[in-house]
Amino acid sequence: MKLFAIGSDHAGYEMRLSIKAYLESRGFSVEDFGTFDREKSNYPEIADVVANKVAAGGYEGGILICGTGIGMSLAANKVRGIRAACVSEPYSARMCKEHNNANIICFGARVVGIEIAKMIVDQWIDHEFLGGRHQTRVDMITKIEENGHL
Ligand code: RB5
Repeated sequence: MKLFAIGSDHAGYEMRLSIKAYLESRGFSVEDFGTFDREKSNYPEIADVVANKVAAGGYEGGILICGTGIGMSLAANKVRGIRAACVSEPYSARMCKEHNNANIICFGARVVGIEIAKMIVDQWIDHEFLGGRHQTRVDMITKIEENGHL
């Protein structure tokens, strides 16, 4: 069974619970890394945990939600091996899997409504990385990550 890691800050708290329930209703397993109350929290702390879990393996991918999705993606992308895409509509959610092999998807609870958020995770989960020329480009991203440049 596919296992996903999920996390949010306070801004994404309600949406995270809804997306977690939605994924479970689709038959997926979800490991929830908080935040576990509505108190103000620091998105890099949650991104750190989820991104390192995903990078270590054992997860199909990770989902990170904050106010905009931007802070989560910026922080998650600092973890080696992570390709976190911040998206706000379903087309980019599909492309970030097919072309970029994004292993974390981020979106903003203050940007998208819950139905768009569900479409975003569906498109990301239900499509596969296409490889080929896209693999060459993803390898270039990894090289920049490793060397600071191509
Ligand atoms: C919290 O107010 C907000 O800054 C955070 O959720 C996120 O949008 C940061 O990128």
